[in-house]
Amino acid sequence: MNKNTFKNKLSDSSLATPPSFIRAILKATESDDLISFAGGLPNPVSFPMEDLKESSIRIIDTYGSKVFQYSQTAGLPQLREYIAHRLHQNQGMEICADEIIITTGSQQALDLIGKVLINKGDDIVLEEPGYLGAIQAFSQYQPTFHAIPLEADGMNPEKLEKVLKACSLESHPVKFAYTVPNFQNPSGLTYSQEKREKMLSLMQKYGCILIEDDPYGDLKFDGNPYGYISKAAPSGSILLGTFSKTVTPGMRLGYMVIKDADLRLAINTAKEAADLHSNIFSQYILLDYLTHHDIEEHIEKIRRLYKKQCQTMISAMEQYFPKEVTFTRPEGGMFIWATLPEGMSSLKLFEKARENKVVFVPGNPFYTDGREANTLRLNYTNSSEDAILEGIKKIGALF
Ligand SMILES: Cc1ncc(COP(=O)(O)O)c(C=O)c1O
Repeated sequence: MNKNTFKNKLSDSSLATPPSFIRAILKATESDDLISFAGGLPNPVSFPMEDLKESSIRIIDTYGSKVFQYSQTAGLPQLREYIAHRLHQNQGMEICADEIIITTGSQQALDLIGKVLINKGDDIVLEEPGYLGAIQAFSQYQPTFHAIPLEADGMNPEKLEKVLKACSLESHPVKFAYTVPNFQNPSGLTYSQEKREKMLSLMQKYGCILIEDDPYGDLKFDGNPYGYISKAAPSGSILLGTFSKTVTPGMRLGYMVIKDADLRLAINTAKEAADLHSNIFSQYILLDYLTHHDIEEHIEKIRRLYKKQCQTMISAMEQYFPKEVTFTRPEGGMFIWATLPEGMSSLKLFEKARENKVVFVPGNPFYTDGREANTLRLNYTNSSEDAILEGIKKIGALF
């Protein structure tokens, strides 16, 4: 049967969604003889496997059939209480468990936000370069993207205001602005306090919802800590968190903090329609793990590991890349963003690198228009230091 038989039956939203570069990359990382700086994978040595094994057994003994039963959409109440408590302790945020919805990774949160907030053609703002998983999730709902260039310390405020103002004047105000202020994916950049405050004041001035996505904030290994932008305006924002980078991505557990009751109900209903609830077995295991171990100590170990890997990659890039290639120096998270000389294609470099058994993500999918770019993303967390040195040396030789 012809493979394309059903293409003419696909919905407009499906046709508007670009196929995932991530999937192609993840496929590439499956090969053993390849050095991959491509995926955004945590280092598997950071997975607390023995502790999770103990928790899996303990929850069955403790809770019995409940861990195998259907459960409520918003998630396990005790896990939501734990998250509210940690946000209070670490960030001084006043959140109650009812304002938290557990999601199937923060990726699901992005999809639910698109589903609940975007009508076709609605204006939304995001960073450029931006998280490709967000571009993909939102694309399904066919918004008008306004990508605001990211500077070394956050979104360019003048360009952001220009968009917010123009859309307001034309009576189609921007619905929401999506941002990853800590160790952004793909750039590794972090917003300064000044840019955080500026962003918040613009959100308030133009009545725009702030979507603050923070998968990497805990993985901070340098610099001063910053507070959440949404802390100062919780009712006008949605905060996203995840356990993917600090415990394990395979359990697919993240969360949304939503103060606004109408928005929360809409998200909860959309989630109910999507999957009834996130994996309850995983939620019990996670709760048990978090309450029987010192998670802050565990995270500190990950930070030390990633700091070393990041430093190794930066030193190797300084040694093996030509001076014309510039790159970011992250204070945390998982990625370095490199910019090649003007006019050079990172996609072509990618093809050559792949022939040499080393891969990264060319910049293209991080732009909403998918343009040919001279930028690329390198992940340092899932390769040994030897592999980092060898891989960077190989890429350097291609210049
Ligand atoms: C900025 C950002 N948001 C969301 C996600 C999705 O994470 P998860 O669904 O594993 O929680 C990622 C994953 O890499 C990310 O980088």
